[in-house]
Amino acid sequence: MRVIQAGVGGFGGSWIYALKQCEGLTHVALVDPNPQALQQMGEIAGVPPEHRFTNLDEALKTVAADGLIDCTPAPFHKVTSVKAMEAGLHILAEKPLSDSLETAVEIVREAKQLGRTLMVTQQFRYQDQPRHLRRLMLEGVIGEIDHIVAEFQIQGLMAGWRQTMDHPFLMDMAVHHFDMMRYLLGENALTVTAHTWNPKVSNAKGDMSAVAWIEFPGGVKVNYTGSFATPGVDTGWNGRWAITGSKGTLIWNQRDEWGPIRLFRQNADYAQYHEQHFFTPLPEPWGEPITAPSMGATGHHFDLYHWKACIEQGVEPETSGRDNLNTLALTFAAIESANERRTVDVPCPTV
Ligand SMILES: NC(=O)c1ccc[n+]([C@@H]2O[C@H](COP(=O)([O-])OP(=O)(O)OC[C@H]3O[C@@H](n4cnc5c(N)ncnc54)[C@H](O)[C@@H]3O)[C@@H](O)[C@H]2O)c1
Repeated sequence: MRVIQAGVGGFGGSWIYALKQCEGLTHVALVDPNPQALQQMGEIAGVPPEHRFTNLDEALKTVAADGLIDCTPAPFHKVTSVKAMEAGLHILAEKPLSDSLETAVEIVREAKQLGRTLMVTQQFRYQDQPRHLRRLMLEGVIGEIDHIVAEFQIQGLMAGWRQTMDHPFLMDMAVHHFDMMRYLLGENALTVTAHTWNPKVSNAKGDMSAVAWIEFPGGVKVNYTGSFATPGVDTGWNGRWAITGSKGTLIWNQRDEWGPIRLFRQNADYAQYHEQHFFTPLPEPWGEPITAPSMGATGHHFDLYHWKACIEQGVEPETSGRDNLNTLALTFAAIESANERRTVDVPCPTV
């Protein structure tokens, strides 16, 4: 599959490296207004200078391609993706699909009308551990799901366009965790009550921290707290999750020295848990450590293989643009809630 990549800046490099490792996909052209980035990434991708463009129209006129990876900042996604789709290409778009729900809907509508495959890179869910957690939840290991507590904290030093966004944390980071909630629960959010603020330590203009109370169908509640401005605290990009059902709790914490997933059964021998928790010296685990089986390709690699397979088989990707509108609906509802200081119903965009 012949791929043009638009945007080869900070995160664009990760797609250059990942695609080089994927069989059956080749970079045929790169597009970026920054000539230095073009040259550096062109060398790494093995794309010759005559196929490095500062303008997408030139690339689409000059080079035959099947798909485009859109790794430009969100405000450019609509114009980039729509032009490429009109030229016959399928799209793998970086998150967030756009900088407003309305333009995201327009991109998805365009993909539908043109019959193109449009997938969004929500690669967090394409990892061994969340895939296994979802399986355990579906198998009923913790019974009927009641609530989730999710916490994310990292010190993210903002640069470039992120420094001037109103909601860099919700738009650029929490969107991954909102998508993860939807994935783990297999449902779309109903309401959100969010508060955001910009901690004094932050180097950005917009709000770098948030809390959100999110309600899902069946009375399931999610208590989310996240911050891009917490020096010294690093939960990892996935964050820490505790998922509680009628029969127990699953804990997912990639930084946990006792293992990233542990199960606590409601009917367990609490005397033993108590013993482990308070009296047994480390490294005895509290609860039951669970190893997630390997799903093979993960993250970007899964994104790329899944995108290609869906195009070839004519099926909709798991994180299609259409599906992703629900992740964005939650993200923009959280922003509206924080701005207006009220609970907001999460819309169900349909295309
Ligand atoms: N999935 C993830 O985990 C993840 C992580 C980081 C960034 N991202 C997303 O990737 C996208 C890019 O982020 P980044 O960190 O690489 O930003 P960046 O600013 O570091 O790089 C963006 C690049 O796009 C180029 N660009 C701007 N307008 C363009 C246009 N019209 N056509 C072609 N190129 C253009 C810029 O010159 C720059 O080189 C954003 O949507 C961001 O949210 C996703």
